[in-house]
Amino acid sequence: MSSCLIAPSILSANFAKLGEEVDNVLAAGADWVHFDVMDNHYVPNLTIGPLVCEALRKHGVTAPIDVHLMVKPVDRIVPDFAAAGASIISFHPEASEHVHRTVQLIKSHGCQAGLVLNPATPLDVLDYVLPELDLVLLMSVNPGFGGQAFIPSALDKLKRVRDRIDKLGKPIRLEIDGGVKADNIAAIAAAGADTFVAGSAIFNAPDYADVIARMRAAVAS
Ligand code: DX5
Ligand code: ZN
Repeated sequence: MSSCLIAPSILSANFAKLGEEVDNVLAAGADWVHFDVMDNHYVPNLTIGPLVCEALRKHGVTAPIDVHLMVKPVDRIVPDFAAAGASIISFHPEASEHVHRTVQLIKSHGCQAGLVLNPATPLDVLDYVLPELDLVLLMSVNPGFGGQAFIPSALDKLKRVRDRIDKLGKPIRLEIDGGVKADNIAAIAAAGADTFVAGSAIFNAPDYADVIARMRAAVAS
């Protein structure tokens, strides 16, 4: 479980050639495709939906697609993403009336379920649902945009969640999202993350393989 997974956020990819971008980043060594869904309601931006997820599958993408829902309400879009080929579906507790029900809904559609905590969301939202989760996603920026700076308080939060996951002894991934770069990923890994979303750091780099390799080396160091 502690193996390091790199999940490039396609939010920073060139949408005019998305299939090629995803092929290239996977060939460059990425593990997952991080798929940011924004609705201009829960967050102040608008991105992509199930049709684009399905198009990536039809294009031939077989890697896990890690869907990060920044939409409200959550439940009615879950079946569409499952049918479109999502592997993991994560949502924000503030966007769901019934968090436990949404987790069950995601699993009932054959996907893994993740809960996303914003920078100011307290950890007690995990109290009664952590054992049901496949993934906890900690936001290290406020959701809505790529290219923001990493919020340092996320490091302490990562340590606390890592501790809770380890005490529980279940194979729950701990993912971090926002401002992750090759030069801060070592500290983020040391705080307990095992799955790393990076958008601008990868897609704005001239050589995807080089930046992914540098990230892996920093995590291993
Ligand atoms: C923000 C998104 C992130 C974002 C990460 O709401 O959830 O996935 O695209 O982008 P960077 O790595 O540029 O901060
Ligand atoms: Zn995201």
